[in-house]
Amino acid sequence: MNDTFQLALPDEAATLACAARVAQACNQGITLYLHGDLGAGKTTFVRGFLRALGVSGQVKSPTFTVVEPYELAGGAAYHFDLYRIVDPEELELLGVRDYFAPGAFVLVEWPERGGGVLPQADVDLHLDYVGTARHITLRAATDKGREVLNALDHSSGAADVPEVSIPSR
Ligand SMILES: Nc1ncnc2c1ncn2[C@@H]1O[C@H](COP(=O)(O)OP(=O)(O)OP(=O)(O)O)[C@@H](O)[C@H]1O
Ligand SMILES: [Mg+2]
Repeated sequence: MNDTFQLALPDEAATLACAARVAQACNQGITLYLHGDLGAGKTTFVRGFLRALGVSGQVKSPTFTVVEPYELAGGAAYHFDLYRIVDPEELELLGVRDYFAPGAFVLVEWPERGGGVLPQADVDLHLDYVGTARHITLRAATDKGREVLNALDHSSGAADVPEVSIPSR
């Protein structure tokens, strides 16, 4: 079983393709936390992920509304952006835990702002700048997360976006 998956993402298209590949590896919902600096590509990843699950409309980060729900053939999806959360208590008031139902796809940008209110993620995803490109690291934190990373390792796509180590800056 694999705990980590890494990939170089040379451009936006690579981020979208990687996200689609991750979505295809999740067959029954997942809790995914997206870490990374401002502009690192978190929303881009969510867009690629949701499109692969059948969302055809716009995917914009819910910076002001905190959460955007989507009804999908494979279950409900919730896209959170906690950038503007000052006090995790705000999330308690939103009833945030109710969104983390089994089978739901829950993607959270800026999970650090949720303090201890959020449940554990299945997969923690980190997007890092490498010059003008990006590098992605996925780390499994639950058995479900490990299954997804395992499926990823055996899925196609590695040929399009070769795995490389981060060049030193
Ligand atoms: N692999 C990549 N290489 C270069 N640019 C990328 C890559 N992936 C995404 N981008 C670009 O980075 C920019 C910021 O992306 P995005 O809005 O997804 O970031 P974000 O992490 O959600 O930002 P925020 O912290 O503001 O929520 C976009 O212009 C997007 O096209
Ligand atoms: Mg964003």
